Amino acid sequence: MTLVVDRVTSGYGDRSVVAEISFTIEPGRIMALFGHNGAGKSTILKSLLGLIPVSSGTITLDGHNLERLPVTERVEHGLRLLPEGRGVFPELTVEENLAVVSAANPGRDGGAITASQVLELFPALAERRQALAGNMSGGQQQMLALGLAIIGSPRCLLLEEPSVGLQPDLVEHLFAQISRICRELGVSAILIEHKIASAMKIVDDVLIINTGEVVFYGSNEETRRTDIWKFF
Ligand SMILES: Nc1ncnc2c1ncn2[C@@H]1O[C@H](COP(=O)(O)OP(=O)(O)OP(=O)(O)O)[C@@H](O)[C@H]1O
Ligand SMILES: [Mg+2]
Repeated sequence: MTLVVDRVTSGYGDRSVVAEISFTIEPGRIMALFGHNGAGKSTILKSLLGLIPVSSGTITLDGHNLERLPVTERVEHGLRLLPEGRGVFPELTVEENLAVVSAANPGRDGGAITASQVLELFPALAERRQALAGNMSGGQQQMLALGLAIIGSPRCLLLEEPSVGLQPDLVEHLFAQISRICRELGVSAILIEHKIASAMKIVDDVLIINTGEVVFYGSNEETRRTDIWKFF
């Protein structure tokens, strides 16, 4: 399920915040979305998911145009947001979190990822299935949030700064899990991150935006050969 974003412009009210954004992500691949504070990274994710309208441009997932669909239908097509902060229900147990999200995401084609498969993919969550999500560590909560995001039929994960508030060793562990999940399930991902060195260990491609415009787009290898700091 290739995600193709072609010259998307969007913003708030009459004000365009991101202009003519284009990129492509193949299944199982991860693209980093870097940029300074206020560059428009979250605005791009909101436009992809349909939380704000696009004023021009197209968004296609395996050839299906999404840019005019409501959020619910984009989620059905497989776009999934891992929101900033902890995307879990803190007052529910791990098992209850999985049950609630499973009920809302039956998935398609019989190939859907179930709650029990999530527990198989993340043994650390299986060990804590009775724990209240809000009582778990930040790293465990982010792993649960990732598990919730892949229930059903995910195609493309929109990951909004998943490392915020995590200790460095937990960041590396979470990123390794994200990478493993994407490769194993053939799910693509957009990773918004300020922890650039850690993100570079798992991403295939890099898009850098500055005041709403693409200033760099290249492979991991090209990014490493480039002095990207001049783009921030
Ligand atoms: N709800 C909103 N209404 C109006 N303007 C907004 C809104 N949200 C963001 N903006 C503006 O859009 C621009 C881009 O913001 P955005 O949140 O996309 O940046 P970002 O790259 O995600 O930044 P950060 O790294 O701080 O999360 C900023 O100028 C911001 O003030
Ligand atoms: Mg943001």
